[in-house]
Amino acid sequence: MKLTIIGSGYVGLTTGACFAEAGHQVVCVDNNEDKVKTLQAGRIPIYEPGLESMMRKNVAAKRLRFTSSTEDGVDHGEVLFIAVPTPPQPDGSVDLSFVEKVAREIAGFLDSYRVVVDKSTVPVKTGERVAQTIRRYAKPGVEFDVVSNPEFLREGSAVEDLMKPDRIVIGGNSDRALAIMQKVYEPFVAPVLVTDINSAELIKHAANSFLALKISYINALSEICEATGADVLKVADGIGTDKRIGRSFLNAGLGYGGSCFPKDIAAFIAISDQLGTPFTLLKEVQKINERQLDRFLEGIREALWVLKDKQLAVWGLSFKPNTDDVRSSVAINLVERIVAEGAKVVAYDPKAMDKARELPFADKITFANSAMEAAAGAEALIIATEWPEFAAIDLAELRDKMRTPLIFDGRNLIDPVAAASFGFQYRGIGRGIIQERTE
Ligand code: UDX
Repeated sequence: MKLTIIGSGYVGLTTGACFAEAGHQVVCVDNNEDKVKTLQAGRIPIYEPGLESMMRKNVAAKRLRFTSSTEDGVDHGEVLFIAVPTPPQPDGSVDLSFVEKVAREIAGFLDSYRVVVDKSTVPVKTGERVAQTIRRYAKPGVEFDVVSNPEFLREGSAVEDLMKPDRIVIGGNSDRALAIMQKVYEPFVAPVLVTDINSAELIKHAANSFLALKISYINALSEICEATGADVLKVADGIGTDKRIGRSFLNAGLGYGGSCFPKDIAAFIAISDQLGTPFTLLKEVQKINERQLDRFLEGIREALWVLKDKQLAVWGLSFKPNTDDVRSSVAINLVERIVAEGAKVVAYDPKAMDKARELPFADKITFANSAMEAAAGAEALIIATEWPEFAAIDLAELRDKMRTPLIFDGRNLIDPVAAASFGFQYRGIGRGIIQERTE
């Protein structure tokens, strides 16, 4: 099938490459000409495992190409996917101006039936607005349908999430459009859930907020664990083995970050307020998430007394492992706050240092070439992102390299007993107190 993706960011690029891999003829559109040139040269502006090679393969097979012309895109695709950014506004609601602009542009070039699909994460009822906008700006009588088809891809495993999805959600009100969408997804082996547009839009926000709720739930429990000497990892295993609960997304830590959860939870709260059905539970989820970093910093201050002029190693800058994305990263927020208190930060991240170097306070950070180099001479080590290589560190060597042996483990990567046996003072999340065995 001939498909067009408008917007070549994380979602657009991965979706385009995976559709091409599945055999479709795909055109990816972006209004940033420099980005289109980079893509045409076979490079991608982001780090996403497996994406660049998949893209090159499909470009070579002539199933994937890039253009900066929306007209070219509308002309090519029988299905047009909108995958443009939906950034947050100061009040938490979503800026839908890019979606609206693309809807107007599509309308201007429409001359025969197209399915217009909303892939961007949008608040419920956006599909209705998109349809209204296209109707208003299109030539009279031209036919189209609007469909909501949310994505559930995670950064770092986006290709796999798209090639082998848990489910495919298609929300639409027209049999013609739904049949075309079923054909688009025929090559993918996954259950397809067909709904109305509003339900599909809600599914996306509801899924992300539920996952964020799970994280805040375990983080709230971590506070109780710290107050009682219980171990949050054991509690998570104990409840997570119940199939109805599940173990995933029960890792206590510094809280969730990234370009999706913080934004989507705020947006869901905002749209619920606008609808007159306030989702107060989610406000608490947000508060717990913010408190997690505050509590962690209090622990660091309590142990170090003064942060000013202390040399602190920070491992991890990306918002999670396997990505170079530092947007709304809790690790970056942490570094910014300790630098503001006068700490001398030496940071290391396996992938995100180039992106971190572009941040406004980057000149106040020293970037190291390895985790061990960052720790050399440090008066404390802070682990801020759960990269697996940090868990595999040689504790004896680390102990020798550091000036004073303190570890603040914001992602529970190091075993507290092992750390103590190598002479470290260790503080994790919800497992700071090591109880002596009495038997
Ligand atoms: C998320 C959703 O998982 C995905 O389905 C949706 O399409 C986009 O948003 P992503 O933002 O890539 O994906 O990251 P995810 O793996 O969900 O992690 C989000 C944040 O939660 C990270 O900061 C991570 O460190 C944190 N996290 C995750 C925890 O603190 N504990 C956990 O148990 C899991």
